[in-house]
Amino acid sequence: QSIPVAATPPMGWNSWNHFADKVTDADVRAAADALVASGMRDAGYVYVNIDDTWEAKRDAHGVIQTNEKFPDMKGLADYVHSKGLKLGIYSSPGPKTCAGYEGSYGHEEQDAQTYAAWGIDYLKYDQCSFGDLIAKEAGNDLDKAAAMQRAAYEKMHVAIVKTGRPMVYSFCQYGLYSVWQWAPKAGGNLWRTTDDINDTWDRMTLIGFQQAGLESFAGPGHWNDPDMLEVGNGGMKKSEYEVHMSLWAMLSAPLLAGNDLSKMTPETKAILMNREVIAIDQDALGRPGRRVWAEGPMEIWVKDLSGGKKAIAFFNRGESAMIFDPKLKELAGFRGKSLQNLWTKEELVLGPTASLRVPKHGVLLLEQR
Ligand code: DGJ
Repeated sequence: QSIPVAATPPMGWNSWNHFADKVTDADVRAAADALVASGMRDAGYVYVNIDDTWEAKRDAHGVIQTNEKFPDMKGLADYVHSKGLKLGIYSSPGPKTCAGYEGSYGHEEQDAQTYAAWGIDYLKYDQCSFGDLIAKEAGNDLDKAAAMQRAAYEKMHVAIVKTGRPMVYSFCQYGLYSVWQWAPKAGGNLWRTTDDINDTWDRMTLIGFQQAGLESFAGPGHWNDPDMLEVGNGGMKKSEYEVHMSLWAMLSAPLLAGNDLSKMTPETKAILMNREVIAIDQDALGRPGRRVWAEGPMEIWVKDLSGGKKAIAFFNRGESAMIFDPKLKELAGFRGKSLQNLWTKEELVLGPTASLRVPKHGVLLLEQR
């Protein structure tokens, strides 16, 4: 039975993209403080998610321990909760996490109970060394491999449900890319659809635009996860981060900031906290957008919103400015309508002479209300 969480794509912060294996209790508290002080919490970013490297060995009873970077997980959870936020944690179905720390293999129920006792609200479950077990036991038998993967994720779902504590359950699995076919049935609220993102234009766009075609698998309570945000990490330009944020919103992707929240520029804040763009992502209908037209570096995506509204995004992946033709048949439904540009706040009426010029590595994100 599924837990009633993640009616809209989860929003918050995760430690990995910026802090990686260096993350400490102090960093997580600082992130929580910054979510409140910046206004991000009030814009919807409520999950504070600790990624890999908090784990230590197990005690004599098999109970998972935290390492010196996280001296008091319950205290940390209380602190995060006192700020009106929720705490997420990370583990692996394998014996070891990707960074070589203790995984949950053989201790699933015990770990779920420990998380619940700490007050954890979100679990990211990262395949890591479980992949080695799959390879060893299933070899070239893909059906067996897929069944093993599914069973491992389902096992932790059952363990979470048994605790009675609602937790968002995030699958971070790879290989055997049919996960979206079974993940919701195995209790997944979100599942990774790609390998890791990084803070580059090439990687971000490769991952993001690759999501075309997966839209029918996601909806309220169960989301495709093209990985976390890189906005504010410094590797991309302003227009490129606007593409990142716009595309993730059009995809109904989880919005998990991955930057150092205590050191945000006004530009980073403006991108992460564009309320209208967030509203596209968080729309109650929960229907991811779809690619309706593409030619060379130009792509048009449309997303249905509640109340009959629609968002339309003109993406330019190319190296020079591009002009979209307002007479395209795919735009027929928008003709004569007044649209709002969600980045500049300008109004645009889509007529035969409308200027649909999009700068290189840029986006024109419009909403029809
Ligand atoms: C691989 C995942 O895809 C990343 O997001 C991160 O969780 C690392 N593992 C941590 O080891």
